[in-house]
Amino acid sequence: MHIKDLDTPVPVIDLDRVERNIDKLQSYLDKHGIKSRPHIKTHKLPILAYKQLEAGAVGITCQKLSEATVMAAVGIKDILITYNLIGKKKVEPLAQLARQVTLSIAIDNELALKTIAEAAKLAEKTIKLLIEFESGNLRVGVQTPEEALELAQQIKQQPFLSFEGLMTYPCGAEAGRFIAEAKKLFDKAGMPINTVSAGGTPNMYRVHEVAGVTELRAGTYIYNDRNIVGSGAASFDDCALHVHATVISRPTVDRAVIDAGSKTLSSDQINPSYGQGHGYILDYPEAVIRKLNEEHGIIDLAACKDKPKLGEVLRIIPNHVCVVTNLHDEVVVHRNGVIEGTWPVWARGKTR
Ligand SMILES: Cc1ncc(COP(=O)(O)O)c(C=O)c1O
Repeated sequence: MHIKDLDTPVPVIDLDRVERNIDKLQSYLDKHGIKSRPHIKTHKLPILAYKQLEAGAVGITCQKLSEATVMAAVGIKDILITYNLIGKKKVEPLAQLARQVTLSIAIDNELALKTIAEAAKLAEKTIKLLIEFESGNLRVGVQTPEEALELAQQIKQQPFLSFEGLMTYPCGAEAGRFIAEAKKLFDKAGMPINTVSAGGTPNMYRVHEVAGVTELRAGTYIYNDRNIVGSGAASFDDCALHVHATVISRPTVDRAVIDAGSKTLSSDQINPSYGQGHGYILDYPEAVIRKLNEEHGIIDLAACKDKPKLGEVLRIIPNHVCVVTNLHDEVVVHRNGVIEGTWPVWARGKTR
């Protein structure tokens, strides 16, 4: 079967592009002696996690404990969770995970430390901890190297925890300054920093410029999307996931409506300096997907010379591909348009 014959709306993945994206980043990281620990948040598919490991990744990154549980169940053995895990309900599943895999977790506070210490004790397994620091994202992370050292010293006092290093997201000059200061402070305190883990895709080919980084966690690079193209880190030809959608109405000359709304494309915005609307329509680059209802995508065709016809199938590059993956039970995979399979997105919808 050919992808032209698919029912819509549907996310369609080009496996040749996926493999090319994996190999390109892995070669760059190998060249610079930086480890790859891809974030599976983009694809949420065990089979693609295995492709990344086969290409040379040292392990994977998950954002949530429940995502990590899915990946452990298929035999993946080295997992980093980059999320503060807090609360009694986390202890038992975390202990179970620690029995199955080599587990690292990033934290920025003592409550997460306490939860993980309890789980490690219950499992009688060592869990490695990284301390997350903030480097421009204004999200989570300790604010100073002194805070990081204080937390690292608390880790050392716990029997089944080991201090592994530092972690940040994303990774730029600010991260470099923090790492340099932290190194001096930790050296003085006799606490070696084994790992400095940084993310993500927009800066991936510049990570070697940030002294001290030992590992990169890129997620989006496997598919890429409109925001990544806008950032300059990839081109539209590197985008491996297209959403196929059918024009279901042409109410006016300048309006088309497709069967893909926010349930399919997500409501994630494009950075305004990169473009407008809710996705890039490959065959009609001047068209703007102005508005999304749950099941309707409303397209403004005023700037298009050629306009899509009723019933035509459009190929759309989403603004943010990770959230699109999370919306779909299955993805269709192909090479040169010939369908190779339909894969269930096993780690989708895992919020805990
Ligand atoms: C903690 C963390 N690491 C890595 C990544 C991967 O970033 P990207 O998708 O830009 O590669 C993300 C993305 O949200 C993240 O939150």
